[in-house]
Amino acid sequence: AAPTAPDMSQCGPSKLDDGTALNCCPPKPSEAVDFKLPKFNRHDLRVRPAAHLADDAYLAKYAKALALMKALPDSDPRSFKNQANVHCAYCNGGYHQVGLPNLDFQVHGSWLFFPFHRAYLYFYEKILGSLINDPDFVIPYWNWDNPDGMVMPSMFNDANSPFFDAIRDQSHLPPTVMDLTYDGPDVPNNMSDEEKKALNLTIMYRQMVSNAKKPSMFLGEPYRTGDSPNPGPGSMEVQPHGTIHNWTGNPQPNTPMWEDMGNFYSAGRDPIFYAHHAQVDRTWAIWRSLSPKNKDFKDKDFLNSYFYFYDENAKLVKIYVRDCLDTKKMGYKYQKVDIPWLKSRP
Ligand code: C2O
Repeated sequence: AAPTAPDMSQCGPSKLDDGTALNCCPPKPSEAVDFKLPKFNRHDLRVRPAAHLADDAYLAKYAKALALMKALPDSDPRSFKNQANVHCAYCNGGYHQVGLPNLDFQVHGSWLFFPFHRAYLYFYEKILGSLINDPDFVIPYWNWDNPDGMVMPSMFNDANSPFFDAIRDQSHLPPTVMDLTYDGPDVPNNMSDEEKKALNLTIMYRQMVSNAKKPSMFLGEPYRTGDSPNPGPGSMEVQPHGTIHNWTGNPQPNTPMWEDMGNFYSAGRDPIFYAHHAQVDRTWAIWRSLSPKNKDFKDKDFLNSYFYFYDENAKLVKIYVRDCLDTKKMGYKYQKVDIPWLKSRP
């Protein structure tokens, strides 16, 4: 067996659920350079804030950076459109595995889920920071494991801000409390807000502790070169990660594939995606801290799998999973907040 990786030199059309094809490939293929962990003083870790606690000055900074990213031309791999398309190309069959043109490369449904999305956000954040000349810039996280964060953060709901997306599920806008058992619009939930919050906490406990006792249970199943996509997702990837994608997406006549958040190809078009995934990323760090038994795979095929992203200089970078295991080595951590589900054993 060997680690798996996408063949970056051959990006093809992405396949959508309705059978159509969409070109999600980045604009300019170029030689890749190897990723290097950043150098910084360990007292200077950047701290990603909880979105609902972020102050106006911070939000203005992020809004400015995102507006600049949205204004970049389609020919620039750093543009918001191209950043969103990263998800589409990596998740809808835009790439095949190196040397295996008939086998899609897929970052969901396996042990690649957490490291891929961590690296993706890392470069998204670096690009935003460079657009406003702030190398310390951080993205916020959607603190949905805390009752105070179980609604869409208000920053995303101002129609005049670059954070807005008009095709979120309109029945799930604030103050609607999310439902981590959400199973589509046909399965109504009549619980009160307090009941939903309490249930959500027990689901967090279950997915982080009871259903996450082995690395493969939390991180996902091994995925090596030659394997078919989706050998098996970890607990968090399915629920609440996937649940919240669907809860935020909007199955309406004009968005039949649950765009934006409810489909791989379009999820990255909603700015809330990056806050959702920062929280998913945070749960990985929390999981590792919960028990000495919660360790990442030591398997070389895991550590030596790699991905490509464009960095803040529009340079193609090759990043290995082994460099994505520790947020603190990558230069950031998460704002500390209370974690009430630790006491919510069902
Ligand atoms: Cu790449 Cu939230 O999925």
